[in-house]
Amino acid sequence: MKKDIFVLGIHDGHNSGAALVKNGKVIAAISEERLRNIKNYSGTPELAIKEVFKIAKIEPQNIDLIAIASLIRTHSPLSEEPFFVKSYRKIVPYIHGQWFSKVYVNILHKLRKMETLKKIFRELRIEGKEIIFVEHHHAHAACAYYQRPWKDKTLILTLDGSGDGVSSSINIGEAFKIKRIAWSVSYNSLGNNLYSEITGYLGLKRWEHEYKVMGLAPFGRADYCLDKIKKIIRIHPNKPLEFQNTIRAYAIDIQKKLRKLLSEERFDNIAAACQSYYEDLLIKWVKNCIKETGIRKLACAGGMFLNVKANKLIYELEEVEDVFFYPPAGDEGTPVGSALEGYYRYCEKEGVMPERHPLRDLYYGRKFDDDYFEFVLKKKGWIDKGIYTKSIAEELASLIAKGKIIAIFWGRDEFGPRALGNRSIIADPRDLRVISKLNFAIKQRDFWMPFAPSILEEKANDYLIDAKVSRYMVEAFDTREKADEIIVGLHQADRTCRPQTVNEWNPKWRKTIESFQNLTKVSGIVNTSFNLHGHPIVGSPEIALETLQNSGLDGLALGNWLILK
Ligand SMILES: [Fe+2]
Repeated sequence: MKKDIFVLGIHDGHNSGAALVKNGKVIAAISEERLRNIKNYSGTPELAIKEVFKIAKIEPQNIDLIAIASLIRTHSPLSEEPFFVKSYRKIVPYIHGQWFSKVYVNILHKLRKMETLKKIFRELRIEGKEIIFVEHHHAHAACAYYQRPWKDKTLILTLDGSGDGVSSSINIGEAFKIKRIAWSVSYNSLGNNLYSEITGYLGLKRWEHEYKVMGLAPFGRADYCLDKIKKIIRIHPNKPLEFQNTIRAYAIDIQKKLRKLLSEERFDNIAAACQSYYEDLLIKWVKNCIKETGIRKLACAGGMFLNVKANKLIYELEEVEDVFFYPPAGDEGTPVGSALEGYYRYCEKEGVMPERHPLRDLYYGRKFDDDYFEFVLKKKGWIDKGIYTKSIAEELASLIAKGKIIAIFWGRDEFGPRALGNRSIIADPRDLRVISKLNFAIKQRDFWMPFAPSILEEKANDYLIDAKVSRYMVEAFDTREKADEIIVGLHQADRTCRPQTVNEWNPKWRKTIESFQNLTKVSGIVNTSFNLHGHPIVGSPEIALETLQNSGLDGLALGNWLILK
């Protein structure tokens, strides 16, 4: 009988986490932030490594391989970087060719600190297992390529701030191999130099708040300062697959130049110009990649592919036959990518025919049962306000139709930045008053940020123009007039929307929306992640109750328990 092959994937940098892959299929994955309740936790994912074995009910000793993402650890904020990494950043602006990049990445890889990981391996008695390192952008590419929905040869694009000296890569995927054909070094990073530095310039957090710049962009006038923004970066005039830094500065030095360049410009116009120029460069780059390779099916990953507005333009391109955006596109996805790459290399070495599993749902995390919820409710003193009901979906639909805002905590955690119905806050999409209630009482979010809807998949075409299956909230759509019914889930300035189309993968979630439709004839609800502003998505029933206590939420569904304030 064929032996099962288990690979543990680890990312120990910014947005760290762990994943477990069995025969090429992800069976458990969780980010450290959910277990520590620290957003975008950066560091060794000790809890996540231990947790994935518990989730999958696998003894650690059963694994065949450990695959670690990134040759060099990614650090955020930069002040946490070790001295030798900081030193290389000082040199990089002056020597920034691809050859030099490869050399310093090799040197830094040899200096990579492994003590904390090795301590965990010893505790789990897996210290003797084979370890491989998967280069950062290769890990991004692997997430998208090996889980793509088709079989054909694929053009794989990765784009992020920076990782292992690389900021973008173009690869060709065929069978079980990924081959890189071009890349840009960190110094020429489109993500960092343009988007993240503008994010920082606007007083927001680099590598976290880029989505706020994207949300702000439709309110501004790009043309007011586009010419200035264009001075930052361009596509290399002689190398159409690479970007070229034209502001001639890197990291903090860019800020000094931006202060001179943009000091007279309004913040919303800067956001608009940043988004517009980003879209412009991205689309030209994608077209160049297709022209160069002749491949029209694209798989994309890396944090910049969380920019849903730019993603929309990619799939609208005539040249693109099909495109797959891997949803946990940022570094949080790399434990999965490294584990998958590890699996295929292990099979190759052992002469085993590998399996491949296209992406389905992302419910890879922890699950708690109703008995445990009851135990926590008693322990935390909430049991008197709790009602146990088998009709929880109908109850929730009825409550939100009456204007209540309710959080959901059931099933397994979603992997990645989006809540997809198991760790969500839900509300009536028809009532604009919900926006201010959500913004100020619950999320304390910036007023310009839009909310998103979850829509019954078969009804998506009623609301969206050129609707297609979009189950992970990584694509944006223009909307029809009927979308006034779900007005809270649209961007206030341009009426676009970033929906989750809901199929049968999560029956309780689907039933909630169906029940809302039965009551109101509206086929979608507002779905925003269950967390307070600045916190990660809620990771345990205990934190769920604390969040209920410290917010303006009207109620909480913990499994089949309904708790109303
Ligand atoms: Fe990355």
